[in-house]
Amino acid sequence: MGLSVVILAAGQGKRMKSDLPKVLQPLAGKALVRHVIDAARKLAPSSIHVVVGHGGEAVTEALKDSGVAFALQAEQKGTGHAVMQAMPAVPADDRVLVLYGDVPLVDPATLRTLVEAAGERTLSILSVRLPDPTGYGRVLRDNAGTVYRIVEQKDATRKELAVNEVNTGLLCAPAAALGAWLQALRNDNAQGEYYLTDVVAAAVKDGFRVEAVAAPTIPEVLGINDKAQLAEVEAHYRRQRAAELFAAGVTIIDPARLDVRGTVEVGRDVTLEPNVMLEGTVRLGNRVRVGIGCVLRNVSIGDDTEIHPYSVLVDARVGAQCAVGPYARLRPGTVLADEAHVGNSVELKNTVLGHGSKANHLTYLGDATVGSGVNVGAGTITCNYDGVNKWQTVIEDGAFIGSGSMLVAPVTVGRDATIGAGTTLTRPAPRGALTLERAKQQTRERWSRPTTAGPEEKAEREARAGLPRPD
Ligand code: UD1
Ligand code: CA
Repeated sequence: MGLSVVILAAGQGKRMKSDLPKVLQPLAGKALVRHVIDAARKLAPSSIHVVVGHGGEAVTEALKDSGVAFALQAEQKGTGHAVMQAMPAVPADDRVLVLYGDVPLVDPATLRTLVEAAGERTLSILSVRLPDPTGYGRVLRDNAGTVYRIVEQKDATRKELAVNEVNTGLLCAPAAALGAWLQALRNDNAQGEYYLTDVVAAAVKDGFRVEAVAAPTIPEVLGINDKAQLAEVEAHYRRQRAAELFAAGVTIIDPARLDVRGTVEVGRDVTLEPNVMLEGTVRLGNRVRVGIGCVLRNVSIGDDTEIHPYSVLVDARVGAQCAVGPYARLRPGTVLADEAHVGNSVELKNTVLGHGSKANHLTYLGDATVGSGVNVGAGTITCNYDGVNKWQTVIEDGAFIGSGSMLVAPVTVGRDATIGAGTTLTRPAPRGALTLERAKQQTRERWSRPTTAGPEEKAEREARAGLPRPD
């Protein structure tokens, strides 16, 4: 039997009070429904169908590159009606796994159990016991413990409401049978909806077995209806990612203040200080330390490197034994060779900084190739942009760039050259030599500080300076 997945995502999500459809609300930077799709993918289904309705165009647009199929539920007539919209596209001999677009943390391993529990004559549902089952459908069992029905909160008797085994909404069933049960659904209930949950009673009537699989944890079946629940579920997500890194031996000073939004590969004895954000693909070598408040997106960092506080690194490669920050910004295309140092308030973009080279203070290096053993003085700026074009700067091995230099690209600094502080470099600086560009210093002995100007003198000087006259 093949597997088709149907993800319900047509609901409005009124309680979000947002113009963004509920299933597109971001959790850890990724739309809720994307989390569900990614979990479903792990089961290698033959197809994934997303049922859209409210904000359907936005959802379809947001998922157009995801390889899922769409079914439109023009009017929200209930969960059963929603699944029905996808059934024509599902092969009759498949198993159908129904997921919710607003239940994002569902564990693929749990889904696998649910799918395996379903069979030719078996419907499987995912249930969970909740201390407070209010609002959920209750799983009803007979004296022998056999599931025979799910009753919704609004349709339940007082005795049924006392049941704390609830329906998570996720289920799996053979397609042909499910299709038939859905066709036969009626909406004569408290909400006037076609309930997916009514297929349980229909299955029992047809002599099917109903297997209730217990969800191993509560967070993975939590649905999201409002912003508070969104934050709550994100906190679970955060803890899960931290737990994975703990298991890999990472020291995390405060797991509640670590955000992992991608794939992280770690060496041994990595330390993450509070408020670190790791996004995309991040590789951290042995003994790497990432300081408080750092953001790393698609970054690889070599052994024994320390990223000091409040640095932002995006699409960058950092070698071993480097030091970065505090307050450094490594923008896309930055490559630091081993033992390079990038200090405070230094920005690099599309720049290679060679072995052991240093740019320690208040510097911008853009579109630059810097050799090894180079010292870039404080306040050095590569003037790489003329307003239209981006130009390259090349600084060869062993060069020394004096503080406050403007390197007007395209320009080159030869091997072991020295640039005097404050130079505006517009032509090549030859190797080995001192190149400087500097106005002559002067001192005026016969000079006194200004005195307070009277109104007339003020007006006159301002007029001479071209300032508009006050009226
Ligand atoms: C549903 C279940 C309930 C279960 C609960 C778990 C039914 C009848 N009830 O109730 O037993 O305990 O989920 O959270 O299934 N949706 C559509 N189209 C619709 C209606 C809903 O796509 O016409 C989608 C929603 O966007 C949502 C999901 O289906 O993703 C569940 O809908 P919701 O209205 O939240 O169901 P509940 O009434 O909470
Ligand atoms: Ca719900």
